[in-house]
Amino acid sequence: MAPDDLPAPTTDARTCPLSQINAFDPDLLQDPYPYFARLRAEAPVFRDPNTGIVSVSTYDLIMEVNRQPLVFSNDFATALRSGSTQGVDQDEMAILSKGWPVTNTMLTADPPAHTRYRKLAAKAFTFKRVEGMGDYVAKVTNDLIDTFVADGRCEFKSAFANHLPMTIIADSLGAPRSDMGRFHQWSDAFVVQLGGVSDKAARLDAAEKIVEFQRYFVDRIEEKRANPTEDIISDLVHADLSEEGDPRKMDYSELLSILQQLLVAGNETTAHSLTAGLYYLISNPDQLARVKADPDLIPGFVEETLRYLTPTNNMWRVATRDAEIGGFPVKAGEMILVRYGSGNRDDAHFPDANRFDVARDNARSHLAFGAGIHTCIGASLARKEMVTAFPILLDRLKNLRFQDGRNTFRYSPNILLRGVLELHLAFD
Ligand code: HEM
Repeated sequence: MAPDDLPAPTTDARTCPLSQINAFDPDLLQDPYPYFARLRAEAPVFRDPNTGIVSVSTYDLIMEVNRQPLVFSNDFATALRSGSTQGVDQDEMAILSKGWPVTNTMLTADPPAHTRYRKLAAKAFTFKRVEGMGDYVAKVTNDLIDTFVADGRCEFKSAFANHLPMTIIADSLGAPRSDMGRFHQWSDAFVVQLGGVSDKAARLDAAEKIVEFQRYFVDRIEEKRANPTEDIISDLVHADLSEEGDPRKMDYSELLSILQQLLVAGNETTAHSLTAGLYYLISNPDQLARVKADPDLIPGFVEETLRYLTPTNNMWRVATRDAEIGGFPVKAGEMILVRYGSGNRDDAHFPDANRFDVARDNARSHLAFGAGIHTCIGASLARKEMVTAFPILLDRLKNLRFQDGRNTFRYSPNILLRGVLELHLAFD
């Protein structure tokens, strides 16, 4: 089944009035593209009368929003923590209060605080540092493939895609690989908290896990404070903010916030992208043949996969004052969804945008890593992982195909993060 041929949601987004569509409907989230197309055509800036949320869906208008970070703020932490637009759940807060309050650092901070934290964290992801990681990423890739290649089949996301980014980030942070099982659980918990489409029990369980994550990393912070090693936690613990006119080290709330973002922002997104890359290639045998025949197409294929999937399909902003987006008035305090997944399917920027094309000229101008001051800090690392892993996967998993009858191609019902839940592959 091709990605855009999935069953239509219960309310048919192709025909029903925009005002009657529930943008959080898990069925709609399976295939949001007909809805996005209608938003772009009929109401590129659209205030949903049911939720009050303002959607921005064309490429150019998303850029307009992202160019004004002080007007369209990333300080959306309260809505994020509640995971919905309906307010903070008291039981959830009671659990979270057993841990540390989280300071807004990068993703959820505005300048000048954003600039300060971003400078410190960016040192871990310099182009030079990431460029030197090729052999190491290749080794992790090969070691992971060794664990399942002899079986001739695998569920690719759990066998490979989840582990590659998690191993790389655990190593970079200086945390033992033996703790990775717990990292996965914590990362999932943050995804539940972010997603806004989960029941209360799942959210309370996620809150418990988040407190567990905090306790674990407070211990690691103390270890690295006493005995610094060559890793990101040590760098962050010992970094000081004096360059920014604030002569002190970061406290737990700041450090935990940064570590949480590095753990979550990079894992699920990269795992989804690795999975989607193989899904799209197998779904498009002509493109698979082209990539196999010409390895120079790999970087373009990676960009096209990021564009086509857009793992961070939507992202929040909050208006700090009355303003306009493309002439459409928005009020101070209104919640805004910048719909990166829609901007990436905008024909005005990407001709024939619903076609997956590994040789697309301008694929790299996609919005999958955002745009503006919050552009993904891990973009070069994610690209490195994908550009390194795909050729090895395509070389070692011969005659790559879907396992008969095992794939539902269901996407996670998450408003922010997009990706298929499982991908059952067979190979020779
Ligand atoms: C394919 C993989 C990835 C995708 C699609 C992705 C996507 C994004 C997007 C869209 C943003 C901007 C959010 C906004 O507009 O507010 C972002 C920011 C961020 N990403 Fe990524 N990301 C990926 C990988 C990573 C990795 C590997 C890391 C780190 C290890 C990372 C860490 C972050 C952080 C810390 C931010 C916040 C930056 C800031 O606000 O200044 N991401 N990412």
